[in-house]
Amino acid sequence: MSKPDLSVNIAVIKLKNPVMTASGTFGYGEEFSPYIDLNKLGAIVVKGLSLKPRQGNPSPRIIETPAGMLNAIGLQNVGIDIFIKEKLPFLRKYDVPVIVNIFGENIDEYAGVAKRLDDVEGIAGIEINISCPNVKKGGIIFGTDPKEAGRVVKAVKKAARLPVITKLSPNVTDIKIMAKAVEDAGSDAVSLINTITGMAIDVEKRKPKLANITGGLSGPAIRPIAVRMVWEAAKVVKIPIIGIGGIMTANDALEFIIAGASAVQVGTANFIEPDAAIKIIEGINGYLVKYNVRCVKDLMGI
Ligand SMILES: Cc1cc2nc3c(=O)[nH]c(=O)nc-3n(C[C@H](O)[C@H](O)[C@H](O)COP(=O)(O)O)c2cc1C
Repeated sequence: MSKPDLSVNIAVIKLKNPVMTASGTFGYGEEFSPYIDLNKLGAIVVKGLSLKPRQGNPSPRIIETPAGMLNAIGLQNVGIDIFIKEKLPFLRKYDVPVIVNIFGENIDEYAGVAKRLDDVEGIAGIEINISCPNVKKGGIIFGTDPKEAGRVVKAVKKAARLPVITKLSPNVTDIKIMAKAVEDAGSDAVSLINTITGMAIDVEKRKPKLANITGGLSGPAIRPIAVRMVWEAAKVVKIPIIGIGGIMTANDALEFIIAGASAVQVGTANFIEPDAAIKIIEGINGYLVKYNVRCVKDLMGI
């Protein structure tokens, strides 16, 4: 058999393979470049950016759990202007689509960040984070109220001509309603899931382990929930779906693709193995060869 075709499209964004790095787990790419060839990735999604730089939450803000981690970073970032000036030139050297994850405390701020990205060279798309559970203001309401989510999408679409991926929160009763709402508002794709709100307590101190008290759970513990939500979303939307949540191996990524995702993002695994995404790409290729499947797209959906 000739080499399998791993390429996929997310709206107009063309990826050489379906494996991206998840926002907040891969910085702005620089830290990973000594360990892996960034050109091999399907896409890089950068750490979430706001209009102004943010310091994030006080420490401790990351703890390990039995099957993943709990974080309350609080969206620390360099701000959109420093990203464009100091981080993007490095990423532009690579032949890999760069997707910029953005957030704001209100709709104007979301639109403001998107506007700054319009016409900037070297950006393939915007991922709107409407789902961060770790910031006090904003955040939650956009991720849990379908009307508010739709308003953010419309504002971002108006502010920039780039393709828009909306990243959904799992902290809702019915993911289908949120997926449909953002599709109806004009989102070009959806990605899911973000972290699930969790909490851990130090029984010796009788205090929460995180300074923020609650945090976002990620890693293998959330994978079955994420797979179920991707499968549910796939039943109601026509736009491409990007599956995220506890993907550590190629088999994990394949679960999402078979559930209906066009592509996947690798998050917590990057902290454990810097080359996790590369191994996953190679594993998907090996699977296609083993089962004599010509294109990864042929695996999509059950
Ligand atoms: C330390 C950390 C920081 C994160 N920061 C962001 C962020 O800035 N924006 C965002 O949309 N998601 C952020 N996420 C969520 C991840 O992109 C991903 O949705 C989540 O971790 C689930 O995937 P995983 O189980 O593979 O890690 C962050 C996750 C972690 C663990």
